[in-house]
Amino acid sequence: MPGTLRRWVYARPIEDDTLRLEQFALVEAAVPELSDGEALVRVKLVNIHSSTRARMARGLTALGETDFSNYACAQVIASRDPAFREGDVIACQAGWQDYQVIRGQDGPVHYAPPQELVKALNGTNSQWCYVFRPAMVKMWPAEVLMEMFGTSGMTAYFGLRECGPIVPRDRVAVAGATGSVGSIAAQLAKIAGAYVVGFAGGAERCRWVVETLGLDACLDYRADDFEEQLKAAFPAGVDVFSDGIGGVLTETVTREMNRGGRLFAYGSAAAFYAERLDAGPGARPTLRRAFGLTDGIEARLKERNIKSEAWIVDAFYHERLKAEDDLSRQLISGALKPINTVAEGFESLPQAIVDLYQKGRSGKLQVRFHPD
Ligand SMILES: NC(=O)c1ccc[n+]([C@@H]2O[C@H](COP(=O)([O-])OP(=O)(O)OC[C@H]3O[C@@H](n4cnc5c(N)ncnc54)[C@H](OP(=O)(O)O)[C@@H]3O)[C@@H](O)[C@H]2O)c1
Repeated sequence: MPGTLRRWVYARPIEDDTLRLEQFALVEAAVPELSDGEALVRVKLVNIHSSTRARMARGLTALGETDFSNYACAQVIASRDPAFREGDVIACQAGWQDYQVIRGQDGPVHYAPPQELVKALNGTNSQWCYVFRPAMVKMWPAEVLMEMFGTSGMTAYFGLRECGPIVPRDRVAVAGATGSVGSIAAQLAKIAGAYVVGFAGGAERCRWVVETLGLDACLDYRADDFEEQLKAAFPAGVDVFSDGIGGVLTETVTREMNRGGRLFAYGSAAAFYAERLDAGPGARPTLRRAFGLTDGIEARLKERNIKSEAWIVDAFYHERLKAEDDLSRQLISGALKPINTVAEGFESLPQAIVDLYQKGRSGKLQVRFHPD
């Protein structure tokens, strides 16, 4: 049992919406004695949300505190909680800290409670907290467990399924093709045999998308003539649009969507990566609005009879094991590639988060705290 844990905290308020190293400070704390219903875990790896900066700026991560909402892979070191056994490798929500006390009875941080079926499957009260099946741990390293079998892979898998089936005649547009959900959604659409065009920021990233993900084309959403390029890439219109971006891109691409098409809206990365943060959750009364579906776009969807999906992925978490099996098969066959950027070492966390907003990355940004 370690006597102390290390924790990165949000130390100084963000100025000008710009995240800098000075926002982070390292503190040490005693590892508490476990009570009944608690387990101590060693945090192996945390996923970094694209919303990290916005959470800090809006006070969802409090000053002096760590962000406890990260999706993480951890190993149980000691347990007085019947939901966990020593040695289990689990998914959970964790702070930017190398050890953490968790409770299976706790609900999720910053999310609504899960459905009863998900609680029964997980044996906990959180959709994000469960023991991985031993075979999954044997097959996949922590970064793949938390990306392909974390929210990114699950969102892409259920999103395309609910928009599907995707068939070879479908012409599919994928926003955020360099991002964690988009890079998987694009590959799954390609595996289904469709014509797939991704969108990414700049020529180099577009080249990466075509070469690494095997898409038919990738367009630079920043190009002045993006709209003309889009029309040229989709002369017969867009049948399916996978979109975690929102804003101008959603407006532009939905204009090219066909009658009877399918839209999968799952996020608002444009707002999270913008130089200036917007007014925040209060300004977005519904999930659909938060995902960029303005009144104008909603009217267009209705007028063209476009089926649209917008949900948080835990809506499907009662089907998690089937998704894990299907995605595992695709990975084993080599048809699907895990895409992640892993920063090594607990000390690298502040720089990795700062760089996320300055330099970007491919797939999920993750920080590995413990290599074993
Ligand atoms: N509904 C759900 O359950 C669910 C699940 C997972 C994620 N999400 C949400 O989905 C969104 C995307 O998540 P993610 O994890 O895939 O994000 P991510 O890995 O951070 O990727 C975001 C992508 O957005 C692109 N991008 C940034 N600004 C853009 C702009 N102005 N126009 C066009 N593209 C832009 C970036 O492309 P370049 O770097 O190439 O510029 C990047 O590849 C987030 O809002 C996240 O909260 C929702």
